[in-house]
Amino acid sequence: MIVLGIETSCDECAAAIVEDGRTVFSNCIASQIKMHEPYQGVVPELASRLHTEWISKVVEKSVKEAGIDLCKIDGIAVTNRPGLSGSLLVGLNFAKGLSAALGKPFIGIDHIRAHLYAPHLENNLEYPYLGLLLSGGHTIICRVSGFDDIDVLGTTIDDAIGEAFDKVAKYYNLGYPGGAVIDKLACTGNPDAFKFPEPKLKSMYRKYDVSYSGLKTAVINQLDKFWNGKDEKNHANIAASFQNAAISLFMKRVTMALKETGLIRVAAGGGVAANTKFRSSLRQLSDQGVVQVFFPSTQLCTDNAAMIAGLGYHYLKRKEYSKYSLSVSARVSAFKSSAWKKQWGR
Ligand code: KG4
Ligand code: ZN
Repeated sequence: MIVLGIETSCDECAAAIVEDGRTVFSNCIASQIKMHEPYQGVVPELASRLHTEWISKVVEKSVKEAGIDLCKIDGIAVTNRPGLSGSLLVGLNFAKGLSAALGKPFIGIDHIRAHLYAPHLENNLEYPYLGLLLSGGHTIICRVSGFDDIDVLGTTIDDAIGEAFDKVAKYYNLGYPGGAVIDKLACTGNPDAFKFPEPKLKSMYRKYDVSYSGLKTAVINQLDKFWNGKDEKNHANIAASFQNAAISLFMKRVTMALKETGLIRVAAGGGVAANTKFRSSLRQLSDQGVVQVFFPSTQLCTDNAAMIAGLGYHYLKRKEYSKYSLSVSARVSAFKSSAWKKQWGR
């Protein structure tokens, strides 16, 4: 089954052709980074206008690169949540139009679930596993038992991990988008130059929940307080120390969740899953023989349409189609977490 994937939830205008949920024939991404760079953040109005201008060219390119005839696709998968409403509407309406013109079904896809699916595109990854989603808008630790069977164990209670990377970079004027810049800069810095405290979460939160707003504020406003007094307070040291703190606090939850659930596989997705420190920390777990570790190549960590087409295939195969009345939503679709609560409590 050949699926066309369309992704326009934020600032990447993307289309891909994927066969049977695994074989990527093409994966085209037109990035708007340059256009948003002067504002040091995504401007929603600008993003949706650019998607409107670019979407048909990007889809055409994906079909051409796949070397297929557009009539040969069996269905369309399109992101309809969560994201910027104006941007999502461009992709969704394009998909609806194409679906009507070709007489092929379409399915609306949750972007977050698609990030969690991305490791399947390049790996033989069996269920169940511990799923890790680290992106600009979300930070989730979950048990994944099937493509549509996801139990959330913990999330951020405030800022997403990627948001913290972006805000720290913005404050110190390091470059845009912040995550990749901090990652690169951190390679030359001392991760022990600043020792940031770990957030202590109140008992009302789940034990795998994380918090990033305190760390972000400490790095931005209270740096002097955490300086070890020995190293120069340069940007590389700030980047390395912040990155170290951000990844370490996440990894502590991951290690704990693996131990307590007994899961033997862990898979990660989302933009921050491209981070060098994160990837090496996860690899350490597999080197120790604790678990098998899976993550997508860097290009499939950040926003792309291959993950949308890949996940879409499983719904379309089940003949689960969306109606033309489908709309967009800024919110993530509900994940279950009841089973987890019963078994493990908070
Ligand atoms: O998954 P994604 O492309 O979009 C969302 O769904 O949010 O993630 C974007 C986030 C941004 O916050 C970006 O700064 C971060 O991923 N990011 C990174 C790296 N590459 C992208 N963060 C840390 N290290 C990286 N190498
Ligand atoms: Zn994303």
